[in-house]
Amino acid sequence: MARQGYIVHYRCFIIVFALCFAKNLRLQTAHRMILATEEFTDEEQLTSAMDKVCINFGKKILDIIPGRVSTEVDARLSFDKEGMIEKAKKLIELYKAEGIKKDRILIKLSSTWEGIQAARELESKYGIHCNMTLLFNFYQAVACADAGVTLISPFVGRILDWHVKNTDKKSFEPLEDPGVRSVTQIYNYYKKFNYKTVVMGASFRNTGQITGLAGCDLLTISPALLEQLSQSTDSLEVQLDKKRALESDLEKVEVDEKIFRWQMNEDEMANDKLSDGIRKFAADAIKLENVLRQKLA
Ligand SMILES: *[C@@H]1O[C@H](CO)[C@@H](O)[C@H](O)[C@H]1NC(C)=O
Repeated sequence: MARQGYIVHYRCFIIVFALCFAKNLRLQTAHRMILATEEFTDEEQLTSAMDKVCINFGKKILDIIPGRVSTEVDARLSFDKEGMIEKAKKLIELYKAEGIKKDRILIKLSSTWEGIQAARELESKYGIHCNMTLLFNFYQAVACADAGVTLISPFVGRILDWHVKNTDKKSFEPLEDPGVRSVTQIYNYYKKFNYKTVVMGASFRNTGQITGLAGCDLLTISPALLEQLSQSTDSLEVQLDKKRALESDLEKVEVDEKIFRWQMNEDEMANDKLSDGIRKFAADAIKLENVLRQKLA
């Protein structure tokens, strides 16, 4: 049903750092490499070290898996289209210097209007593949497909979290789950109107959300939920397929910047969750920066 995705993520960085990078040889190499060029300012050194650490983690993962790895662009650039493009190009360049082709990399960007337009340019002009994250709403998904991005990773569980926290309803049947419904609508829209953008559902809170999306292009499933699924003897029914998508009553919509911003503002959940997600990813980046700052001092 699903293939696992791999992600270079600041949150993991911190943990992995603590666990096994006490004697980080690669980081020391990065350190030396950076120190060799005296005219860099402290901030530039820090940025280079951050980039290098991202690449090293990606490389480590690519050494052990056959597929692709996602490397995230610093969330503090989420509203800076040119900044995201520059950073993505830089990361791909660093991978290339390590002998890794861009086909094995997905650049992970926030699904802000700016992020989506950055992805449009990265895909069309540079052939750099993007994984759009912090995606909670249909209009974000439509804008991503229009921009020709390779993959979106809508967050199913975080949509549920918002509803549990902000409404009276605390639990949902799988097919009534707001996260499942959101991804189903996006999947149907993509298939009905022949978009190639791949839908990779992510952030699951329970197995019902996963089985409720059986048939989706790809899903990111945590080891704990995979384990639960493997214990289950329930029959698994396909919920998403092209036939059902074609039968859905979805109509084609046009999403320009004004419509995108309006629709995001109308959708309290998506608006909250996008902002919250950016804040959290940014906080993680700062944590990692502080670790690196100490190492560089
Ligand atoms: C894309 O990013 C999401 C997080 O937004 C992650 O769960 C997923 O594994 C990534 N996909 C790939 C193929 O790397």
